[in-house]
Amino acid sequence: MEIIVKTNDHSVSRSAAEIIARVIREKPNCVLGLATGSTPIGTYKELARMHKEEGLDFSKVVTFNLDEYLGIGLALDKSYKEDQSYARFMYEELFRHINIKPENTHVPNGLAKDPDTFCKAYEAAIQAAGGIDLQLLGIGGDGHVAFNEPGTLFDSRTHVQLLTEKTRQDNYKAFFQPAGIDWEHMPKQALTMGVGTILEAKEWLMIATGANKAEIVKQTLEGEVSPRVTASAIQIFTRKATVILDKKAAARLQYRR
Ligand code: GLP
Repeated sequence: MEIIVKTNDHSVSRSAAEIIARVIREKPNCVLGLATGSTPIGTYKELARMHKEEGLDFSKVVTFNLDEYLGIGLALDKSYKEDQSYARFMYEELFRHINIKPENTHVPNGLAKDPDTFCKAYEAAIQAAGGIDLQLLGIGGDGHVAFNEPGTLFDSRTHVQLLTEKTRQDNYKAFFQPAGIDWEHMPKQALTMGVGTILEAKEWLMIATGANKAEIVKQTLEGEVSPRVTASAIQIFTRKATVILDKKAAARLQYRR
């Protein structure tokens, strides 16, 4: 694992986008695993800029998002309703700014009538696409990777996940409250790739910024490898992993480059 510390979150976004762009240039039909949350927004902005100004071509790129809230989301007609679904987030923050084909983008369907069957089909679709070449990842406040909350086993596959109170509160404050949505409408469950699914990606790119992530970054990268902090699975990931942090998020690390 390579840990890179940048001076600020803008530099983190630029470096992360450069790594993603490198993979796209090397393999134009690559399969990208994408993440949501506030951390990757800058990376997506930078990718959109690279598309517009440098001609970075997404026309053959295939994407699979990590997760989606259960009970909200994209109708299968991809109508991008005004909601706080990750499907809409991806459309607003990235997909509408680049030349990706809508049929090449995949976000778990939070409105699936039979979520368990959907999860199996999502796994199969990742396999059928040839697996994920590069997986972008953030770290949740409780150490979750995707929506794999504390206690989720490292061999877990795409599944329905009960969200912790901390995750619901963090994500409510960041996205649902600013959109004027009442707490009672904050989803309690999500669909998420499992840790095992994510461990099969060929390369990981993990990003974290801000002082409020410093402690969980330390636990993730230098703490005990444990399902209590599912992001700590990075320590047993045997392929190429790059972690890009800003100084604030890296502040508590003992070993950094
Ligand atoms: C959500 C996502 C995670 C993401 C996390 C971090 O819970 N499911 O994939 O890593 O948010 O969010 P933020 O970047 O806003 O701190």
